[in-house]
Amino acid sequence: MSDTLIQSHLGENRSFDPPKQFGSAANINADRLQQAHQSADSDSQKYWAEAARDLVWHREWTQTLDWSRKPYAKWFVGGELNATESCLDRHMGTARENKTAILWEGEGGDVREYSYAQLLQEVCQAANALKSQGIAKGDRVAIYMPMVPEIVVAMLACARIGATHSVVFGGFSAESLRDRIQDAGCKMVITADGGYRKGKIVELKKAVDDALADNACPTVTSVLVYQRTAQEIPMVEGRDVWWHDTVPQQEMSCHPEYVDSEHPLFILYTSGTTGKPKGVVHSTGGYMTHALRTCNWVFDLKDEDVYWCTADAGWITGHTYVTYGPLAAGATNFMYEGAPTYPTPDRFWSMIAKHDVSIFYTAPTAIRTFMRLGDQHPQAHDMDSLRLLGTVGEPNNPEARTWYHKVIGGERCPIVDTWWQTETGGIMITPLPGVTATKPGTATRPLPGIAADVVREDGTSCDVDEGGYLVVKEPWPSMIRGVWGDEQRFVDTYWNKFDGNYYFAGDGARKDKDGYFWIMGRVDDVVNVSGHRLGTMEVESALVKHPSIAEAAVVSRPDEITGEAIVAFVTPIQGKEAGEALKNDLMAMVAKEIGAFARPAQIRFANAVPKTRSGKIMRRLLRELASSGTVTGDTTTLEDFSVIANLRDEEE
Ligand code: PRX
Repeated sequence: MSDTLIQSHLGENRSFDPPKQFGSAANINADRLQQAHQSADSDSQKYWAEAARDLVWHREWTQTLDWSRKPYAKWFVGGELNATESCLDRHMGTARENKTAILWEGEGGDVREYSYAQLLQEVCQAANALKSQGIAKGDRVAIYMPMVPEIVVAMLACARIGATHSVVFGGFSAESLRDRIQDAGCKMVITADGGYRKGKIVELKKAVDDALADNACPTVTSVLVYQRTAQEIPMVEGRDVWWHDTVPQQEMSCHPEYVDSEHPLFILYTSGTTGKPKGVVHSTGGYMTHALRTCNWVFDLKDEDVYWCTADAGWITGHTYVTYGPLAAGATNFMYEGAPTYPTPDRFWSMIAKHDVSIFYTAPTAIRTFMRLGDQHPQAHDMDSLRLLGTVGEPNNPEARTWYHKVIGGERCPIVDTWWQTETGGIMITPLPGVTATKPGTATRPLPGIAADVVREDGTSCDVDEGGYLVVKEPWPSMIRGVWGDEQRFVDTYWNKFDGNYYFAGDGARKDKDGYFWIMGRVDDVVNVSGHRLGTMEVESALVKHPSIAEAAVVSRPDEITGEAIVAFVTPIQGKEAGEALKNDLMAMVAKEIGAFARPAQIRFANAVPKTRSGKIMRRLLRELASSGTVTGDTTTLEDFSVIANLRDEEE
């Protein structure tokens, strides 16, 4: 990369020099962790201001936190930055310029590598392509792509010009994509002709065409299509543009658009307790501060590491720990396109061995799947390069954790079990490797500056080992800034339970005598299937769209592999036949409305679903029935006792 190019990327008017704190200096040890806790406890704003200085700022902030309009926090008020400068430009002119930023393997075994300099150039060209399509600061862009390096390029290209991206996981259906495009009023969709999964092509462009059909999304003016599979696809004249016809032709530099610290870097839709997913809004300065800090500390990143977070970029884990965190930390980031066990059950382990992966961060559901497949698959590979393992998204049962530690980690790698959420932006409760003593099954303690607690219904703190609600009592920089287009939902979901004082996470938890947090699962109607978050109402809404269905009630039951599995109780309209054909139709309905990953594990026909006298579905009873086949406890509010008796009789 030429000097002039580097110069033009590093904005001229920066008010202070980029931080020197790279590599091991940015890591943590027991002393530094203790100091960090002390500093955060005595003056949390000072603590966070120091953390924010790890980023590249164009203009320094004048106020660290404005919490005067609770629950709307503003962090680093008056500050200006561009997230991509911290991820890319800052590495130019350093030893990292030619270091591998992305090391990618496709499902078919094809490998690509991008240095930081190459990634910067690609991002600039893609950003210029977006501009040439009329995309500007403040516009929303939907990204619906496979796990190819271009998905990261697309996210960063949006950030480069101040456009807000909304990545929609490629497993979502055309209907889900359309709802999300409409809700955010996206001006552009970035997609691919398809992607590979288990040897088959996932037809992404077709889903985009279906989502946009009949002028359903009038805000969309263009569709940028990356060619991955080279299958024949129709291109709509005047709307669709091939990536390869525009991106490589663009100028190689693109001046970063400086945005306010609070500017929305992205929207990410997640499931809640209603049928409609929420667009969780994240800021730029605060989000990036926590993404970088946690990436450095939790993964103890060193320059020689090859880091692999297996999440798809369509989830928050893929945003924070595939894209923004590791790139800001200057890591070598391994990415894989396809299915974990394709074409052979040892696919993951063969890639760890081949690419010398040293840090591996995945979901417990994947670990349980691998464990079932047997020890011989990992044992066939030399995975000595591994030095740190992590998990995210669900509790890791002790048996799977032991297996992970022994068979994958060779009994030498620490395991970080991290608790966080789409809404928290980054890891909140976690051990730090080699620093925090772990106990299997707990994410241990909150990071410095994270005021997590477990409280009772009245907001008072629970005693040791008393179960309660997991809350965060003070604002933190990467916290959710709102629900896109729905202020009331933001306030109601996260803040009203404790009178606007605490952030309510939706999880139940308890704290043990050492202050370790044990997460006990969701207390609302959100379920976690293979680490994918789904609202029971979302699935119910999909089921009742079927013309033969009068009513549906969806609950979860524990599942050995996926953590939770969905069980749907459905009541057909009088006279409609409740048989296998209808079950298959309903499965297809859910796949069409939400995505194949949301298909219920079991569908049960019922004459009626149990309700309270006020008409609320009694999910607790259904959950019990789905898990154990029996119902205990209080049924006094039940409207019609015969409903439960009938359901039990219908037990398969
Ligand atoms: O219930 C908690 C569970 O996952 C939920 C958040 O889901 P999502 O927003 O999709 O983000 C997943 C990845 C960050 C939480 O409300 N969860 C997350 N981490 C853990 C967990 N449950 C138990 N242990 C964890 N370590």
